[in-house]
This record gives sequence, C-alpha cells and structure tokens, in this order.
Amino acid sequence: MKIGVMTGGGDCPGLNAVIRAVVRKADAFDSRVVGLRNGWKGLLDLSPVDLDTKMVSGILHVGGTILGTSRTNPFKDPAGPEKALKNFRLLGLDALIAIGGEDTLGAAARLFAKGLPVVGVPKTIDNDLSGTDFTFGFDTAVSTATDAIDRIHTTAESHNRVMVVEVMGRHAGWIATYAGIAGGADVILVPEIPIDLDEVCDMILRRHSRGKSFSIVVVAEGAQFAEKAGSEGDLIVQESQTDEFGHVRLGGISQVLSKAIEKRTKFETRFVVLGHIQRGGTPTAHDRVLATRFGVFATEMAHRGEFGQMAALQGNRIVAVPLADATSKLKTVDTEIYDIAKEFFG
Ligand code: F6P
Repeated sequence: MKIGVMTGGGDCPGLNAVIRAVVRKADAFDSRVVGLRNGWKGLLDLSPVDLDTKMVSGILHVGGTILGTSRTNPFKDPAGPEKALKNFRLLGLDALIAIGGEDTLGAAARLFAKGLPVVGVPKTIDNDLSGTDFTFGFDTAVSTATDAIDRIHTTAESHNRVMVVEVMGRHAGWIATYAGIAGGADVILVPEIPIDLDEVCDMILRRHSRGKSFSIVVVAEGAQFAEKAGSEGDLIVQESQTDEFGHVRLGGISQVLSKAIEKRTKFETRFVVLGHIQRGGTPTAHDRVLATRFGVFATEMAHRGEFGQMAALQGNRIVAVPLADATSKLKTVDTEIYDIAKEFFG
C-alpha cells in the first residue's frame, strides 16, 4: 500500500510524533509513505517527499511539523477538489492520512464524499473537534499556559495588580478553562459565555474586599462582550482580512478588557497575550503518547479501508468515528468542567 500523509492548519505539538508513528506502522505493514508538504497545498501543487523510518528518527519530541503546514483550502478554487483527486491518482496513492483540525478535516470529509480515500487524525491545541474526548496538542498548550499563569502570579502579587492573561481559543474556551483551573485563575472568560463586565468587576472587587490585593483573569481570544456577542464580525481582531477558511486573525481582547477593568475598579490592571508560545515547543509526554496512538491507529484504519473516518479518543480507547460527524459541529466547553472553574471565581 502507498499512503500519503499531510499536516494542515496551525502547527501543534505532537504532529511529528504522528508522522513518525504512521511511517513506523506502515513499515511494519511493508507499505510506503509519501509526505505532502504544507497541508492541502502539497496535494494541489504536487510536492511529495518519500518518508522512511530513517527520516522520522529523532522527531518524536520535536514541536512543529517536518512536513510544513498551511491554511490552504482545496475548495477555495472550484477546480481544487478535482485537482486534488487527480494528483492523488498521479502519485499512485491508495490512502491519505490527513492530520488537522476542523478546517483540514472538514475539507477531508468533503473530499471523501467526492471519492478520496482519506483517514483523519484530530489535531488542535484548541481541543474543539467533536467525536474525540481530546485532540493531541491540547495538553501541551494547557501546560505552557499554566506555566505562564504561574509566572504572572508572582508579578500580580508583588505589584498588587490585576493581570489579564489572553490564551488561544477561537470558538471554544478549553485552554482558558483548563489552564485557568490549573493556574488558580480568579475569573475565566470563554467564547461560549458572553462577558458581563459588571459581573467580572464585581468578582474582582469582592475578592479584593476579602483582603486579596491581586487577581488573575484568564480570557480566551474568542470571548465577546455581552453587548457585542453574536457573529465572528464582532470579535476583537488583529487583522480583519480572512484566511482561506474565512477566519479573521484574533487577538486583543485582553487589552480592551484590562482597560475596562482598571477604569471601573480603579485597580492597576495589565494584560499579557500568550499567542503562539502556546503552540510551540516540545510536546508533553501525554501528547506524545496520544499522537503516537492516533498515528498507529490511523495507519491500521487505512489498511482496513476505513475511509471517511477519524481516529478518536473515547474514554481511554482509540476508536474510528465518521469525519462528517467530527467536523459538523464544534465541541464547546463542558458545562460540568466550567462549573468547577466557577467555584473558584472572585
Ligand atoms: O490552531 C487554532 C488556533 O490556535 C486558534 O486558537 C487561533 O485563533 C489560530 O490558531 C491562530 O492561527 P494563526 O497561527 O494562523 O494566526
């Protein structure tokens, strides 16, 4: 069997661990693996690279992706899907393993409907893909954000400040909720719940009236003020131009929020945007194991002919779920976990 593998969307700790697992498992099946560079672009532009076990040696713990990535959408150009299918045949491939998030795997689901034999692997630090309890990369992002919150704590405490920490999370506040709980945040704001500024300031004032002289607020980049909540057009953005999947570049909610908090509470308030620091660096042991399990399972799925499906974690088992189900609806934060976080607000 000849298998193509590609990584699409934002980079994510653990991508190389999946590529390594795919190549090693394919080798055990006596199959060949071809890497496609820079996401769907690699299939459209035909930039294959033969991958063997030597080439994937020593990459398990390395962040980023040896194949490169991009936000190329094969459906952007009406001729794109046909070109992708034609190039797949030209390369003599029998299967494609697409490692990506909602956009990359959404395109994979649509290409499967057009006849592409594709298997998905769920990647995103945002953990917002349905069908899987967790995506790989999320644990690393949470660890990095928690470490940052711990460091910010010392400045908040020493200077008697309110510190607003902005983390990634376009549509879902998984990183904010988990890192907020782990870092002992006093307020956590997520895209799922519109921000009520009065309530946020009341929580901070209540905390300070109990003798505390500092507060930590964690906010997801996609959170919106209650009066503005609604469409993606009302998000606070760095760049309003959209990518090929129609997303604006988010960033800046922490600055707006910190100004508003300072104005209302009169407490000195600063903000920090963690940005791509959360996506970089070496994956945690948890993510290395999860990425490896996904890679091995996806390669087995390709050999079993289980196309149009995604490897997913359910409980502690890796199972196959339909790509169409995994990408039809985003997985937002569980009320149960957010309620735990709320116990510690204010
Ligand atoms: O991978 C998803 C994500 O981390 C979002 O939370 C964030 O909005 C986006 O990537 C940023 O992507 P880029 O690197 O393209 O600016």
